[in-house]
Amino acid sequence: MRVPIDCWYVVLEGRELRRGRPRVARRLGLDLVFWRDSSGAPRAVLDRCPHRGASLGHGKVRDGQIECPFHGFRFDGGGACVKVPCNGPDAQRPKHLATRAFVLREEHGLVWLWWGEPREEYPPVPWFSELEGREHSGFVVDNDVSWMRNVENQLDWPHLPFVHGRTIGMGFDPRIEVRSVVEGDRLVTWLTRDEDEQGKPSFHIQLAFPHLWLNPLGGDRMMAMAAFVPVDETHTRMYFRTYARPLLVPGLARLVTAAVDVVNRLILGQDLRVVATQPPEPTVDVQGERLVQADLPIAQFRKEIARRSAPDPGLVTLRRHG
Ligand code: FES
Ligand SMILES: [Fe+2]
Repeated sequence: MRVPIDCWYVVLEGRELRRGRPRVARRLGLDLVFWRDSSGAPRAVLDRCPHRGASLGHGKVRDGQIECPFHGFRFDGGGACVKVPCNGPDAQRPKHLATRAFVLREEHGLVWLWWGEPREEYPPVPWFSELEGREHSGFVVDNDVSWMRNVENQLDWPHLPFVHGRTIGMGFDPRIEVRSVVEGDRLVTWLTRDEDEQGKPSFHIQLAFPHLWLNPLGGDRMMAMAAFVPVDETHTRMYFRTYARPLLVPGLARLVTAAVDVVNRLILGQDLRVVATQPPEPTVDVQGERLVQADLPIAQFRKEIARRSAPDPGLVTLRRHG
């Protein structure tokens, strides 16, 4: 699985992690157990007990630590084994029983996992300032292709009149010229037909690397955001949200966004029916893909992901059409 290193990944929504209850989830190709410690902060270690391999996630949270269901060994949020009941209460903490722990943050109602070397100080989680001060609702979708495929689908302009011919792609002129630029941690893409005389687009889509996507839904009032969470090579969990500015009464905007969620889920369903027929991961072999100008953001996305993980220039095949 190709995933950039040294960055934050959304792994759960905060509301999926209840106090006192461990939660097992496969993320970034690893089976992990998440729980909340006694301060309420999210914690995660590998789900497999270092003693004899039972799933820690089937155990209990005790005193903010995770207790294995098999022989009651306990692990703290840093991965240290802090209790071995069969050795007695006065035994030393066995260093060789430590497990791998992960650095987590909880922000914007999402739990984020640091994928990379530990650091003294960590960068902020990626976020869109456009979403500050807004209310939101959302939905979750799982599918059986890689996270990259799902991101690519959201950077794909030429599919609109075909996949969404009866919804958002109705009347969409299939002939397009696509612009896409990578600036730091952002990819921004738009159509030349939406540019004003200064070349500024009235509508654009953004990706905050590696996996956070923002679509202004045709204006500033409402915005769609999604996190494409790598589960493993062939599975993705997608957290979709709709954001809107608060209306007169608190919570009212959320009724509107919830209605938009219903439509967005329907549109996403149109996408995923086609995406499910692609090979689950982008390929580089001769049977692979031959991109055209309109695929520019997809080519740039692949190139950036390759650059930020293991270098593999062969991943990008861009040919101009015509
Ligand atoms: S397998 Fe977990 S304590 Fe023995
Ligand atoms: Fe689509």
